[in-house]
Amino acid sequence: MDSYMTELFQKAWEIARHAYAPYSHFRVGAALLAEDGSIYTGVNVENRSFGLTICAERSAIVQGVSAGQRKFRALAIATPDSSVPVGPCGACRQVISEFMDPQAPVRFGCNDHTYIDTTVGELYPYDSLHDLALNTNS
Ligand code: THU
Repeated sequence: MDSYMTELFQKAWEIARHAYAPYSHFRVGAALLAEDGSIYTGVNVENRSFGLTICAERSAIVQGVSAGQRKFRALAIATPDSSVPVGPCGACRQVISEFMDPQAPVRFGCNDHTYIDTTVGELYPYDSLHDLALNTNS
């Protein structure tokens, strides 16, 4: 587990330089491991309306789903402008839970490369709708 999380975190770190964050100056990179082993990355894309900002996590999910993926096995998030690890926002936790199982590992780390290892289920507990979802493959 640790070696692929290391690689995934490295990808998130590298992609964070592509973040479009002229308002917050807070760059975020995310990397997702898909079921077939492919990796998809994303960055935060801000907007002058502020409210239309897209987080790195959702950006990566949109990349993967647009490429035909429907399930992701692991997620890494890098916040190089932060001195503490920053986990996904509430909206992203909901979207992450759509495409990842509660057991799936999540790593998020900051500018000194310290990180927190957790799971989707720990970030988004009591997700009853996950079990009730009829079909997430279409
Ligand atoms: N942001 C993310 O992209 N992901 C997170 O997990 C936390 C916040 C972005 C949104 C905004 O562009 C900037 O970070 C500051 O909140």
